[in-house]
Amino acid sequence: MRIKKSWVGLISLAAIIVAGCATGAGTVSEESLGLRKTNLYTETSTTGDATNYNKAEAGKSTKFERAFENAPPMIPHNTDGMLPIKIGNNACTGCHMPEVAADMKATPIPASHFASFRPKTAIAADGRITKEGKEVDNTSDFKTVTHKLDTLSSARFNCSQCHAPQSTQEPVVGNTFTPDFSKNGAKRSNLIDVINEGVQ
Ligand code: HEC
Ligand code: HEC
Repeated sequence: MRIKKSWVGLISLAAIIVAGCATGAGTVSEESLGLRKTNLYTETSTTGDATNYNKAEAGKSTKFERAFENAPPMIPHNTDGMLPIKIGNNACTGCHMPEVAADMKATPIPASHFASFRPKTAIAADGRITKEGKEVDNTSDFKTVTHKLDTLSSARFNCSQCHAPQSTQEPVVGNTFTPDFSKNGAKRSNLIDVINEGVQ
């Protein structure tokens, strides 16, 4: 089936090209077929666009639009000297912890990072699984539980695991996706409130 489908694609592409020529549209150049406008048969003169991270210091950068509700926001400022994050050296928390964020004009680390979503789980000798004190047959039926923590969750310590700087390069193919934000979702995340959204 797969082979046949790709043949159909090839034949229609050929038909388009032939039709293009026949109607006097001229020949289609190899260079115009790909997204890169260079010779398709060699890589030697083909280089990717340079990555272009924001040079603006924290406090002077412009935030990026969120890709969708509760997407981890991209880092808009320079991270020179901040990475890699080490156990005794996490510059990010120095500006983003809720108690200092307002003074630093930084977005505070959200409530979801001060919570554990892992259910208390036990497995009995007979293999029966208990989650949050309830025996469960199918572990995927279990709703997410939220255990609020007094400190930043250790699962969130390594910020750059999820938050990355974003290159200001123009994408080769424009993005036409428009996210559907509820309430303040476009500016502030609310994951902790909607963690079970869509779960039956
Ligand atoms: C010197 C203080 C400072 C440090 C250190 C810092 N930030 Fe920031 N951060 C800011 C400020 C202020 C903003 C808001 C944009 C601006 O004004 O530049 C911001 C914006 C952000 C945003 C975008 C938030 C949004 O609402 O869109 C993210 C994500 C972020 N920082 C992550 C990090 C991470 C991860 C680190 C560590 C690698 C870090 N920051 C280190 C001050 C800081
Ligand atoms: C496991 C992935 C992960 C890690 C690690 C992580 N974040 Fe996040 N972060 C997210 C996601 C997903 C969101 C958006 C949804 C939410 O609220 O949790 C977010 C949201 C944020 C926001 C936006 C808050 C708002 O109100 O809009 C800030 C600021 C932030 N994180 C900072 C940090 C910093 C600083 C660290 C390190 C101390 C960190 N994050 C570690 C995934 C992560």
